[in-house]
Amino acid sequence: MTQRWIRALTALLVGGGIVAWLLLPVRFAVERPRLGIPAVVAPGETFSIVVRGSVPFWSGVEKAEIVSSAPIDTQNARAPRQRHVLVLTGLRLTGVHADIKAVVPAGVPDGPYDLVVSGRQRIVVRPRSLFVQKSFPDRFSLAQMADLPELTTDDGVRRLNAIVDEINVVNPEAVLLTGDLAYGGAWHSYDRLVRALLRLRAPVIAAPGNHEYEGWAGYLSYFGSPYHAVDLGKLRILSLNSGHGRDQLTQSQFRWLRDNLPPAGSGLTVIQIHHPPFPERSFRVNDLAFAALASERGVPLVLHGHWHADGVFDGQGRRREDTTAFPGTHFAVTTAAGRALRRMSETLTSYHGYRIVRIEAGQVVSYTYDVDGDGVRDAAASVPLGMIHVEAPEPGTVRVKNKLNEALPNARVRIAAGADAGPVMSASRGTVAEVIELGETRFFEVVVDIPARSEVVISLLPAQLAEQP
Ligand SMILES: [Fe+2]
Repeated sequence: MTQRWIRALTALLVGGGIVAWLLLPVRFAVERPRLGIPAVVAPGETFSIVVRGSVPFWSGVEKAEIVSSAPIDTQNARAPRQRHVLVLTGLRLTGVHADIKAVVPAGVPDGPYDLVVSGRQRIVVRPRSLFVQKSFPDRFSLAQMADLPELTTDDGVRRLNAIVDEINVVNPEAVLLTGDLAYGGAWHSYDRLVRALLRLRAPVIAAPGNHEYEGWAGYLSYFGSPYHAVDLGKLRILSLNSGHGRDQLTQSQFRWLRDNLPPAGSGLTVIQIHHPPFPERSFRVNDLAFAALASERGVPLVLHGHWHADGVFDGQGRRREDTTAFPGTHFAVTTAAGRALRRMSETLTSYHGYRIVRIEAGQVVSYTYDVDGDGVRDAAASVPLGMIHVEAPEPGTVRVKNKLNEALPNARVRIAAGADAGPVMSASRGTVAEVIELGETRFFEVVVDIPARSEVVISLLPAQLAEQP
């Protein structure tokens, strides 16, 4: 009798399991790549799609594709989109997590893509999460900012969009966001933040700050894991979370950092973490161990925010306002991009800004700005906001005003062609990197070197005119 009951119960459980397996939807979320943790890959290269599923040891993923992202600021326009199916080559299941190895097919053109992952009854889209890039230039820049404008007002949203426009002209290879991105933690603040960030042309790499804990669920929903590694060619960007608990770097994160920080001399790594490790306004747990590890592994630059003022420390925790040329790791605190400024130094001037980190031949060659225009970069100074303006005085022409004391190599501007423009166009200056056709209008994306303190007019020309000497 008992055995009969056990058999019946077993049959019921197995049968119920099979019916549930057949009928219930398997939900999954794509944890990476996504906005904030992008994948930057060459055609033919393998990358990881990390998925969290509702059923242990079953990803539920059947197909992954990439679709070319709509050109920025044209999200509602019917721009032609290209679709490529990814080749899935491997799967590693750990509990509810699945690490799916995917390959971008050879011949996929460079550019930003939306990742589309589908399974039975579910499709997940991660906009601008995958960037195909055949090769990395030898010289390029990163932009970094922290402590963004308050996004509960239209004025704050306008200011953030102005920053995005400016950084798009600078044309970095990635934009690093070092915490305190959406104060107050309201969902609509995150929503506005993400809308503005999707207008950035470059991949966005995000780390949280202490204010993210005012709406931690919002941060996790919009940006996912609070610490991660993103590789841009041979450059590794490690993002950490120091806002956790009471401004600390947790033991588990410290262990993760130790495992993911390459040994000294084996490539270039830049770290971003909201708080600096040295007093004041710093994180406390694992602070000195973090600084020692960064120095030991030969990390040239660690980027911070939180101060709402500029500052730089050397590996011994000394503030350096004397020179940008000192050995060892540089710990650079960047002023607020939008929040109220604080006075943290008697000598440094304060302003809203962001950092441009310039990299050449695998080395960080600069991360500060020449505030007084004497031809020498000032210690600690970030790039002031509002110094780059682009106007379109007429169709087919833009005027770029660069009030900065430094040139903008490879600046990128968009020029709308006039209605009567000829079929083939080039630019009076620079090179046309991309042509975007939207209905009747054609936009030309021009890459051009803009000298320091200059005003440059760029016009679209019929091709034969541009070829004349
Ligand atoms: Fe902060």
